[in-house]
Amino acid sequence: MRLKNKVAIITGAASGMGQGEAIRFAKEGAKVVVADLNLEGAQSVAEEINAFGGQAIAVSVNVMKTEDILNCVKETEEAFGPVDILVNNAGVFDKYQKSLDTTLDQWSFLVNINLTSVFEFSNAVLPSMIERKTGAIVNIASVAGLVAGKGGAAYTATKHGVIGYTKHLSSEYAQYGIKINAICPGTIETPLVKDVLAGISKEPVPARRFGQVEEVADLAVFLASEEAKFMSGTAVTIDGGFTIQ
Ligand SMILES: NC(=O)c1ccc[n+]([C@@H]2O[C@H](COP(=O)([O-])OP(=O)(O)OC[C@H]3O[C@@H](n4cnc5c(N)ncnc54)[C@H](O)[C@@H]3O)[C@@H](O)[C@H]2O)c1
Repeated sequence: MRLKNKVAIITGAASGMGQGEAIRFAKEGAKVVVADLNLEGAQSVAEEINAFGGQAIAVSVNVMKTEDILNCVKETEEAFGPVDILVNNAGVFDKYQKSLDTTLDQWSFLVNINLTSVFEFSNAVLPSMIERKTGAIVNIASVAGLVAGKGGAAYTATKHGVIGYTKHLSSEYAQYGIKINAICPGTIETPLVKDVLAGISKEPVPARRFGQVEEVADLAVFLASEEAKFMSGTAVTIDGGFTIQ
């Protein structure tokens, strides 16, 4: 088991990639906090994990609220001990909305969930990681954080921001043995993109298919594990080759 007894918070873990990561982390021996706005969904994922002999709790968190983030870290520490791994996965999509069609409210909503929450959640777990000189933060960015045209204006800006913040955070805290990296998925078949999936061609993807949740979860396990201990501030693509051309 590659994450035995590690304490992991995964945000947005009631659905899609977060759900896949929660299950995969638990199978690798991690004690998992399924953190989501959708408490019912989070509880069902935690139940599934506990049913196969893993350890998980569900915590209701709106990542836009500072008090929810602080409370989640507190509940985690009370249930399992200090946080070893944080996966900042919760995110929302803007369905390729152009800049001129984006209102300030829509922009701020995406910035808050996709970017500001990564800053706030990271700051909530870093002091303990620094003190213990260990830890891993995995930020789920996107290929939209690397190139234009893979999301709308706000989504593209927030995901570029996540990658920039990941690099910066690493430059400050890698010296304490904390691994901080980002994952840049291409199109992955999850509820987030189900409305737009039919309109996206697989032709530009060299692998000629969309990705699966389990494939991203495998990469997240690797980046959270000891195997990745010299990886710092990277943005790893998992996109079937979508961004190579
Ligand atoms: N699916 C893709 O093709 C794709 C590609 C690249 C990156 N991503 C990124 O991967 C991450 C996960 O996406 P997904 O496809 O699994 O999405 P999803 O919609 O299936 O799951 C997102 C989860 O986040 C939760 N969430 C939303 N707002 C929240 C909030 N304010 N507080 C707490 N939880 C909240 C939702 O309840 C949901 O459970 C996102 O950051 C997304 O931007 C997705």
